[in-house]
Amino acid sequence: MPDNLHDSPVSSSGSKVGHRPSRNDAGPFRRGPFILAMALLFAVVPLLAGCEDESEPVVNVYSHRHYDTDEALFQQFTAETGIRVRVVSASADELIARLEREGAASPADVLITVDAGRLHRARTRGLLQPVESEVLQEVVPEHLRDPENFWFGLTQRIRVLAYARERVDPEEIQSYEALADGEWEGRVVARTSENIYNISHMASMVAALGQEAAEEWARGVVANFARPPQGNDTDQIRDVASGIGDVALVNSYYVGRLLNADDAASRELGERVGIIFPNQEDRGAHVNVSGIGVTAHAPNRDHAVRLIEFLVSEEAQRAFAEANFEYPVREGIDWAPTLRSWGTFRADDLELNRLGELNNEAVRIFDRAGWR
Ligand code: FE2
Repeated sequence: MPDNLHDSPVSSSGSKVGHRPSRNDAGPFRRGPFILAMALLFAVVPLLAGCEDESEPVVNVYSHRHYDTDEALFQQFTAETGIRVRVVSASADELIARLEREGAASPADVLITVDAGRLHRARTRGLLQPVESEVLQEVVPEHLRDPENFWFGLTQRIRVLAYARERVDPEEIQSYEALADGEWEGRVVARTSENIYNISHMASMVAALGQEAAEEWARGVVANFARPPQGNDTDQIRDVASGIGDVALVNSYYVGRLLNADDAASRELGERVGIIFPNQEDRGAHVNVSGIGVTAHAPNRDHAVRLIEFLVSEEAQRAFAEANFEYPVREGIDWAPTLRSWGTFRADDLELNRLGELNNEAVRIFDRAGWR
């Protein structure tokens, strides 16, 4: 199910390379000095940690994001509060695995990751704790946060239909449901059902249509595939642009990234596809979030809450969302120019917590429908 199984943490496999356990534990060291050194080490480490807490407040962030704007925002947070931000960057699934491994000894104070399904997973595995904050209650809309405040959305991402401008009239396809219609046979491209974006989207289909109709929809889409599910969101756009398929299910920021890329070839690729915000006549386009939560064993809990409150401030929301062509969760924030060019749209206000709750059901439906 995880996106990034191949990204398993380096430390667990890497440390084995070239090291065979020896019967002579002390190896080249003489035992006495070795034990003394270890004793000193264990005495000094807690002292260092203690000193650091007193002299320099910190907050430790585990984040899947690695944008320059995030770094600039963290520096600004430090300038305003005196709290230093230390960031560990890795893939979303890797960070969750790492938190599980570290348990109560984890130095992490906050987890920043993508997809409500993953945030829900982090909560159900006991990796997060609830946060009481009037600021967060007020700023983050109810459907974009955990009902018991274990996590909060930071940016909104919309799953849209990307279509070939050359071959498709957008009037022809205005809903997710239409992807299953017979006229799209051999024209739909998609990622595999292991992808969390697809799982969460299927969960939203179950929430909207019920299990039976959602499964029927999945069978219809599978029957319309131009090729077996494969690749990432950008690959879907590429395959629509090159004519392998005519329409794809993707997050809009991937098109935004292409349109704003440094290289002309990527920008041209982006220009070849149009985007449709589906289901404007009923529930609206499917919404997901990148989000944040305070870790269950956060050593710097108060600093963590201050950081989250900072990240939903007006200034931070604009920069945080713009970095990846996503939409702010806070009301009244200017959108990036590319998002403005796409116009306003109706967004599904389904409680995102449901995406996590319906995750297993969604996976079973994909299996039964043969969406591999
Ligand atoms: Fe993504």
